[in-house]
Amino acid sequence: MPLDSAREDLIRRLPKVELHLHIEGTLEPEMMFSLARKHGVTLPYSSVDAVRAAYNFSDLQSFLDLYYAGCDVLCERSDFYALAMAYFTRAHADNVVHAELFFDPQTHTQRNVPMEAIIGGLRDGMNDAHKRFGMSSELILCFLRHLSEESAFETLEMALPFRSEFVGVGLDSGERDNPPSKFERVFAAARGHGLHVVAHAGEEGPPAYIREALDLLHAERIDHGVRCEEDPALVEYLVAKRIALTMCPLSNLKLRVVKDLREHNLARLLRRDVAVTINSDDPAYFGGYIGENFRQTAAALDLTRGEIMRLAENAVNAAFLPEDTKVAMLGAVHAAAAAPHG
Ligand code: ADE
Ligand code: ZN
Repeated sequence: MPLDSAREDLIRRLPKVELHLHIEGTLEPEMMFSLARKHGVTLPYSSVDAVRAAYNFSDLQSFLDLYYAGCDVLCERSDFYALAMAYFTRAHADNVVHAELFFDPQTHTQRNVPMEAIIGGLRDGMNDAHKRFGMSSELILCFLRHLSEESAFETLEMALPFRSEFVGVGLDSGERDNPPSKFERVFAAARGHGLHVVAHAGEEGPPAYIREALDLLHAERIDHGVRCEEDPALVEYLVAKRIALTMCPLSNLKLRVVKDLREHNLARLLRRDVAVTINSDDPAYFGGYIGENFRQTAAALDLTRGEIMRLAENAVNAAFLPEDTKVAMLGAVHAAAAAPHG
């Protein structure tokens, strides 16, 4: 069903909170090429169009191979700043008022990029986004699950001098055969430093990985969580504990987690009262930022105005923000919905 103008208008005006966004996944081909030229990095593509043509993925790993190759052009603090500002500018156009950004330090530190350049550059962008757009943001440091527990511990150690610059830790990269249990101890250490915890689980991996993320890592939100439905008791648990799922419909479509957006379980879970949210994951690679994810999902799943509102409210409630800020943001969500169309 095409999106009618009332829902289109609501989506445009809704203040949005984005909770599942890999900043490295916002690297558009144009910036990839200009940074490659700047640093003399050779890319395996002849043009921007050739890069876009390569974005035809068969699964998560086929995407990650390109995503990590693209990261090679991010070398200096100013590169991370430019990357962050480009994201914030696009997010602002989608009326994002708060974003919690994932970053993958191991992708960069293993090329000898200093942690200070990564976090410093992202922080410069976050400060500018606040000044220019009034947008708030936080950083979440993700461990790459295909690497070892030892590498994750080393990364946490390297990041601790910048502890005040990030609010949480997450777990991403290839899910198959890399269960959350592999990282139980490093997440315990991170929690010991007062960090929030999230984890990718149930994107390609089984629902047992979602349970491990909750029980062993003490994840406060689950990134993706698509496969939770295979375990009905787990779905009940997510509802009872108000554990949010940060879902990314266009990512799931591009990585063939679902064959068609109309088959996505987001609406079914939302209607069962799971705290579902909509996010963009790696928008430069998956064909749309958060607004486009809302529009295409609302059209494919025939979401009502009330359901679209609920998605926006769920994201505010699941954010790592103080309660009074959440109350103000929820007020803005309701005001946007009550405003006359136009
Ligand atoms: N890293 C970047 N995007 C990811 C995704 N969708 N799943 C796992 N790791 C990722
Ligand atoms: Zn992700």
